Amino acid sequence: MHYTLITGASKGIGKEMAQQLAAKKQNLLLVARTASLLETLAIQLQQEFGVKVDYLAIDLAGIGAAQTIFGWCQANGYQINTLINNAGYGNGGSFDQIATKQHTDMMQVNMNVPVELISLFLPQLKQQQRAFILNIASSAAYQAVPGLSLYAASKSFVLSFSRGLQYELRNTSVTVTTVCPGGTDTDFANRAQLGPKAVKAGEKLNMQADEVAKLALDAMYAGKTELITGFLNKLGAAMVWLMPKKLVEKTAAGIYGID
Ligand SMILES: NC(=O)c1ccc[n+]([C@@H]2O[C@H](COP(=O)([O-])OP(=O)(O)OC[C@H]3O[C@@H](n4cnc5c(N)ncnc54)[C@H](OP(=O)(O)O)[C@@H]3O)[C@@H](O)[C@H]2O)c1
Repeated sequence: MHYTLITGASKGIGKEMAQQLAAKKQNLLLVARTASLLETLAIQLQQEFGVKVDYLAIDLAGIGAAQTIFGWCQANGYQINTLINNAGYGNGGSFDQIATKQHTDMMQVNMNVPVELISLFLPQLKQQQRAFILNIASSAAYQAVPGLSLYAASKSFVLSFSRGLQYELRNTSVTVTTVCPGGTDTDFANRAQLGPKAVKAGEKLNMQADEVAKLALDAMYAGKTELITGFLNKLGAAMVWLMPKKLVEKTAAGIYGID
């Protein structure tokens, strides 16, 4: 019996992916910090879709989190054929106004944990006839974003690492897909404490989490290397590539309140 492991499954895009995967009869392992949300979701998915679901409430910023998740799977005999690194967040504001621990915690969750989970689970994934790794980056991966500088850099890391890994694994049974959502209606903006201009832009342009989840899962099952969700976000990434970097950064600084 195989499972799909999803980090950040308690809300937002991760929760939507869990719903859609359960509807496809996939057994699930749900990971996030909030035990109550994970428990409610696990019960609902088991009752509604008749799949097996277990969950682990853990702070991924904590020491040894990836190893704890791997040990939990080993102890319970959970074999995974799909690893979805979705958990992530940003700390909005000027870099120098944010405590060092907040920076390093975010880097741990957005970068180190996905790398460690992939490293730990890869031997098992390679043994499967077909296996999938899905990493959620961001449209912020394509540019510097003053006001979310470290977040954007962390997502560039995810994208670059994932593309290289996809190539390295091209002759194995494992595909690596990176999905770069643009603004999506989730708790992201609230947690990042984005300012009014960014929130207002989001109200007009944001995609819905279920739509993003479907695009991400379709890309993963199609074995795509990289997907930017939605036409406007694709256009945005193309414009960022064409425009002078200083102009792109000034525009982002205006949106994210760093003037
Ligand atoms: N929404 C957007 O506009 C947007 C745009 C581009 C990319 N993304 C990316 O999409 C992914 C999903 O985010 P979302 O938009 O769905 O945001 P969300 O609604 O805030 O969900 C984030 C998920 O990650 C979990 N998480 C956060 N910190 C964690 C920690 N320290 N330990 C364990 N779990 C943690 C959260 O669960 P708990 O709070 O229960 O821990 C939650 O399940 C992230 O990687 C994000 O960077 C989002």
